[in-house]
Amino acid sequence: MRAVAVFPHQHDIRIIDVPEPPRPTGHQVLLRVLEVGICGTDRDIAAFEYGDPPIGSDHLILGHEAVAEVIQLGDDVTTLRVGDLVVPTVRRPCSDPNCPACQAHRQDFCTTGEFTERGIKHAHGYLTELVLEDDHNLIAVPTQLTDVAALVEPLSIGAKAVEQAQAVQTRLPWERQRARILVLGAGPIGMLGAAAMAVSGYDTIVYSREPGDSPRADRVRELGATYLSTEQTPIDKIPSVTGPIDVIYEAVGIASVAFAATEALAPNGLLILTGIPAPAEPAALPLDRIMKNIVLKNQAIVGTVNAARSAFELSVQKLEQAMYLVPHSIRGIITKRVPFDAAPEVLRQPHGVKDIVRVHS
Ligand code: BGC
Repeated sequence: MRAVAVFPHQHDIRIIDVPEPPRPTGHQVLLRVLEVGICGTDRDIAAFEYGDPPIGSDHLILGHEAVAEVIQLGDDVTTLRVGDLVVPTVRRPCSDPNCPACQAHRQDFCTTGEFTERGIKHAHGYLTELVLEDDHNLIAVPTQLTDVAALVEPLSIGAKAVEQAQAVQTRLPWERQRARILVLGAGPIGMLGAAAMAVSGYDTIVYSREPGDSPRADRVRELGATYLSTEQTPIDKIPSVTGPIDVIYEAVGIASVAFAATEALAPNGLLILTGIPAPAEPAALPLDRIMKNIVLKNQAIVGTVNAARSAFELSVQKLEQAMYLVPHSIRGIITKRVPFDAAPEVLRQPHGVKDIVRVHS
């Protein structure tokens, strides 16, 4: 069967032939992969800047935003049935008995850094025809969501951010008003995060560089959020347009933008960082003013990466809600679907919001 693999030492990405997986045993499930979404992480791996093949392998099979159909079950699987639609989680625990996070099945908080990630770090991914996966790494998705289920994984990043925001803000021991959220960036993580927040009833503003009359800005407005363009509103003028911000959801991966935006944060506000910045020239920022504000206004900064089962489940719920309320806008986040053969090319190209590789239809 075919798989899309990156060969970091040869600086090559190509379709290779790999053996089919054996029959599932125990808690294993055999999956027929339907679609795999492509994100910035995949493109960094395809540019040989990130990611690691499994130990002892010269290549890494890509793909971590997968949707698949269950086709065969090991004898001990009781929670899934043949024909179910599933999305796999990405990160697998380290084996260190002293890692409290992995021991508690919260490898998204792994303390050793020895975790693996399917399609990213030391474990093959899902850009192939058939895969074996343990049942506890699979999230069942209602079949009505089939055409948008590739969005579950990228939306799980926003869902974990929501869980983190709620956990951190339990420090404020009073009934919260309707929170105002500023999303930085209108890429897939920003767009999906904004969709989840807008349908949850938060006052959601997306700040990005595309002009106010661009298709992306229209998409944001269709989601029920407000769009602010960097062309019209310099970062320091955001609060004068929106009022003070309770939570900033950073999905732009540019450190200078993220920290400059803290000046829009309300007292007790929270900055959640999800982007992994590329190396850049050091930026001149008024760090003493930023720090003074953070201290005097009791503000918090939290970084978040990856997502646990609970965030994937929340992601499925939010996607269902969004598909009920704004189906056209959610489908519009998917800019392109390409056949399997085109995957290496699409990984090398500049992209739309969310490109998806069709493995089986
Ligand atoms: C994935 C996460 C992963 C992160 C870092 C992201 O693209 O969605 O699951 O933890 O990359 O490797």
